[in-house]
Amino acid sequence: MRDYQAKIVENKEIAKGICSITFDLGEEAVVRCGQFGDILVGGTHLLRRPIAICKVEGRLVTFCYQVKGEGTQKLQKAEAGSTLSVLMPLGNGFFVEKEEKKVALVGGGVGVFPLISVLREYKAEKQISAYIGYRNAAAVCGVEEFKKADKFVGVTDDGSYGEKMNAVQAFEADLKNGNRPDVVLACGPTPMLRALKALVEREGLTCYVSLEERMGCGIGACLVCVCNLTNGEHARVCKDGPVFNAKEVVL
Ligand SMILES: Cc1cc2nc3c(=O)[nH]c(=O)nc-3n(C[C@H](O)[C@H](O)[C@H](O)COP(=O)(O)OP(=O)(O)OC[C@H]3O[C@@H](n4cnc5c(N)ncnc54)[C@H](O)[C@@H]3O)c2cc1C
Ligand code: FES
Repeated sequence: MRDYQAKIVENKEIAKGICSITFDLGEEAVVRCGQFGDILVGGTHLLRRPIAICKVEGRLVTFCYQVKGEGTQKLQKAEAGSTLSVLMPLGNGFFVEKEEKKVALVGGGVGVFPLISVLREYKAEKQISAYIGYRNAAAVCGVEEFKKADKFVGVTDDGSYGEKMNAVQAFEADLKNGNRPDVVLACGPTPMLRALKALVEREGLTCYVSLEERMGCGIGACLVCVCNLTNGEHARVCKDGPVFNAKEVVL
């Protein structure tokens, strides 16, 4: 992990309220899919904002973010040519075992972005099906990446793009059609992950989920991001996660 003084190459809107920001780190970084960066947005914001690393190409690293509150609004205003402090790579990331050949990606909301990094890392060696849920057609993004998967099912809450259903329902429908993965990797809002956890438990599937808790330090020191484990213990999402085996974490 390093604190990069990263130069913004591009910062643009890619769907309604969703932006993509690309930094030049000045050197190549070694990043595992599902890891994240903590971006200091500056101004009165002393806290950093954790955002999943979406894409790494040489010295360039791209994050995609939904403009929500003050921090991400400030980030949206950052201009190409300026420099921000980016602490990365953080967290454990996703890991697919050698014997796990068929991978299902299930993502919703801002959880779709770390899954793009999984697809980029594993598409050459694994058979990947992606089930991706968006709020509506205006929020659809990353499709050009997900279409590189062996199978891509994009759905929306209101049916304005793809079928009217959520990502877990799309995954379940395909499961019923006999498309059974060796491992499921997921990221999205907690209710989505909860529904997925119930489904994979019923089906006896291995599943890893990436959590998006609110964070303070991002490096394991402040305990703001602690989550409950099923064995009664606790874990720090920033340092011990953000990726956990679904059966080991309370959602
Ligand atoms: C490991 C990790 C990876 C993430 N990856 C991405 C990503 O790739 N793209 C992306 O858009 N966002 C991602 N997030 C969420 C992102 O960090 C928050 O949306 C962001 O910090 C909000 O900052 P803000 O100052 O704009 O909003 P704030 O003013 O801090 O909050 C605005 C609203 O967003 C809610 N909120 C804030 N943080 C979170 C959170 N972590 N989860 C759910 N709701 C939150 C607040 O409760 C509030 O309602 C990730 C979070 C984590 C922990
Ligand atoms: S954010 Fe400080 S310990 Fe995780």
